[in-house]
Amino acid sequence: MGVRVQIDAVGNFRALYPAPEADSPRLLVGSHLDTVPNAGAYDGPLGVLLAVALLEALHGRRLPYAIEVVGFSEEEGVRFGVPFIGSRALVGRVDGTLLSTTDAQGISVRDAIERFGLNPNEIPLARAASDVCGYLEFHIEQGPVLESLNLALGVVESIAGQSRMEFTFVGRANHAGTTPMNLRHDAMGAAAEWITAVEYIAKETPQLVATVGSVETLPGAVNVIAGEVRASLDVRHPDDDVRTRAVEQLIHSAQQIARLRGLSVRWKQRMNQPAVAMDSFLSSQIEQAIGKAGCRAHRMVSGAGHDAMITAEQIPSAMVFLRTPGGVSHDPTESVLADDVALAIEAGLYLLDQLAATTTFQKRTCRA
Ligand code: HGY
Ligand code: MN
Ligand code: MN
Repeated sequence: MGVRVQIDAVGNFRALYPAPEADSPRLLVGSHLDTVPNAGAYDGPLGVLLAVALLEALHGRRLPYAIEVVGFSEEEGVRFGVPFIGSRALVGRVDGTLLSTTDAQGISVRDAIERFGLNPNEIPLARAASDVCGYLEFHIEQGPVLESLNLALGVVESIAGQSRMEFTFVGRANHAGTTPMNLRHDAMGAAAEWITAVEYIAKETPQLVATVGSVETLPGAVNVIAGEVRASLDVRHPDDDVRTRAVEQLIHSAQQIARLRGLSVRWKQRMNQPAVAMDSFLSSQIEQAIGKAGCRAHRMVSGAGHDAMITAEQIPSAMVFLRTPGGVSHDPTESVLADDVALAIEAGLYLLDQLAATTTFQKRTCRA
């Protein structure tokens, strides 16, 4: 397709479809290539392949702006506990703290980049070019809303903020057979009580979601009372104040449970990502394009995090959602409807031509 492809210093896939004029604006279109364990096939990769499909659908036609397809190397935050490493490189936020974060095997992000054969010292070169005027991400909704409205496509108005933390309950390991129940300091019992409290507090707060997705116990033997239990926490809400208050409530609950059981508890914040509004100009252009494709565009909040919430720090960013059958995601049964993908490409082409007609995507420098 006459596209120049490269892998940048954090492993992002970057493919530039140039404009006829050298100093033209640029639109980024992409999503992430990594997944959660035991994932479906569409969360992330669909957005990268849809970007490639849009270029193919141009059949060599050039626009007054360049298109750069981006496949982010790491968005989920599974390996290192900190998400958005790929997109953070585009906005210059891969710092020493992030590079020294380690995975379960003690391998740092910096080591992992070097072992992959890339040079962390070249990360500054991965920044989005100054001529970038927008970022567009196609992504599955990963929830039930579009399907419940019998709609194919949605426009994301904002992305809910999220907190990611790690709580460690420290009790006293002891013999499972000889330690009477009233003399135990069981870290598993404390963590279990707290996990139930997490669910209760989330159910009591409208639109709040809170999840303990992984638990690690030490020493992890059948006949030993757990001395230490490490639990993850993922809290999300469209309103940052509500999310912050909920996190404070969950910390207080952990402290109280630990105190009453004669244990201690410590916690670590892995991420505090504010809610992010999508670009209103691009979102209205998307809405128009979806209408031209014969669909009603549903405007909605994204409960899932996306690279668009990172690029939006410096680049006008917007997202198109595709219906998720059954609302199932982060699971092998995740799916999309081929007709919806075809509609997304059709709407995407209308969008590219609409942007070509706007001054934003014609003038040389579109960002201050
Ligand atoms: O966790 C999320 O919100 C997304 O799947 N990264
Ligand atoms: Mn995901
Ligand atoms: Mn995703």
